[in-house]
Amino acid sequence: MGTTALVIAISYSVVVVLGVAIAGAVWWSTKRRGDIDAERLAHQERSWLVAVVLILVALLAATIWSTPYFDTDAGAGGQVVDVKAKQFAWTISPARVRAGQEVEFRLTSTDVNHAFGVYDDRDHLVAQVQVVPGKTQKLVHTFTRPGTYSVLCLEFCGVGHHVMETTFAVTP
Ligand code: CUA
Repeated sequence: MGTTALVIAISYSVVVVLGVAIAGAVWWSTKRRGDIDAERLAHQERSWLVAVVLILVALLAATIWSTPYFDTDAGAGGQVVDVKAKQFAWTISPARVRAGQEVEFRLTSTDVNHAFGVYDDRDHLVAQVQVVPGKTQKLVHTFTRPGTYSVLCLEFCGVGHHVMETTFAVTP
């Protein structure tokens, strides 16, 4: 199991446990009867509403400037690869990188939205990112296996979407 799959599995497990706990707490709270103080409940409800709205606004303010993704840079020794998307082809330069060192893809589109999907020689998706016009999107990935990797467009971008693919090489 890869690191990403492990993180996803743990995250889902935590969410499931939390969900069951919250559902149980709600169910248990409905069992108490008799001493319902409507005014106190209404006050609690308002407090919760304010708290949730404040949390959502704070999360929005903290993340909106980094949409669609946080900017990342390759570290020292990183390899920079420029990628241009245009209906219906990719231009990748250089089209050869080394395994075991971070690769910083800098992606732009000259027309519409595309999505850069990188597949290894076993057709496993190893990285993907949205490519939008008017912005340089970065994607940092370290290739562990040398070989020929395929790039497929993962966002429907017109009649030639399905032919929008190319390859690049990862050398040892
Ligand atoms: Cu480019 Cu689909």
